[in-house]
Amino acid sequence: MSESCLDADIISGLLNGGLGISVSVYDCVSSTNALGKSLPAGVPPTVIVAREQTAGRGRFDRRFDSARDAGLYMSICYTPKKSLTPSEITAAAGVAVCLAIERQTGESPKIKWVNDIYFENKKLAGILAEGVFSEDGSLSRAIVGIGINVRKRKFPREIEGIATSLEDAYGRAVDINRLCADTVNLFFSLTEHTPRAMSLYKSLSLVIGRHITVHTQNGCYGALAQDIDDSGSLVVLLEDGEIQKICSGEISIRLA
Ligand code: BTN
Repeated sequence: MSESCLDADIISGLLNGGLGISVSVYDCVSSTNALGKSLPAGVPPTVIVAREQTAGRGRFDRRFDSARDAGLYMSICYTPKKSLTPSEITAAAGVAVCLAIERQTGESPKIKWVNDIYFENKKLAGILAEGVFSEDGSLSRAIVGIGINVRKRKFPREIEGIATSLEDAYGRAVDINRLCADTVNLFFSLTEHTPRAMSLYKSLSLVIGRHITVHTQNGCYGALAQDIDDSGSLVVLLEDGEIQKICSGEISIRLA
């Protein structure tokens, strides 16, 4: 099968009718999230996709490697109709990515809380959800940035031991336009059914039952990840027996 290339008309044709979403595919941008944030107020829901990003960013302002034609780099930019928490948007995006991948590979990856998508011990995809706020503090637009490593490739040395791609992990060709459209369709459907999204988010978790390290500004500590509650917080058991809920931040999984 020949490799599919990103095509705005193909993606638009695969989107569920009625969503009224405009799709733009760019050759090269700094970051699809940055472009999404600069859209004028009042534009219809827009999916911005790029073949390459020169300044793709992840959480904690880390670089997201966005080599040309190697991945799906996209931002879903829209104004939520109902009020959703950042955790609900993030969970819907993570689950949408997993289910879209499962449609092509037959197998779902797992979600490393908060929102990294993993195949075994390597990262396949990441999500950076950001907001544009009005003067009164209300959310005027959500920018849901999704980066998925798709094609077989050689990663830069700094991440070669910790990153993988769909085609490397699952050994099968991926239709990138379908992957994009499925992710968008599933995302919008899951944001309409938040309890279902949260329950899938929990069932796809890579961390529940694992020993983890919680990273904070003041240092790190060990814990056992026990659960994810309905609001998306990670429930952990500390070594002194205390139960703690973590609503944001970073964890790593202890392998031994
Ligand atoms: C992470 O790994 O912490 C999140 C990575 C998010 C990367 C995507 S690629 C499309 C969009 N544009 C960006 O600059 N970032 C997101």
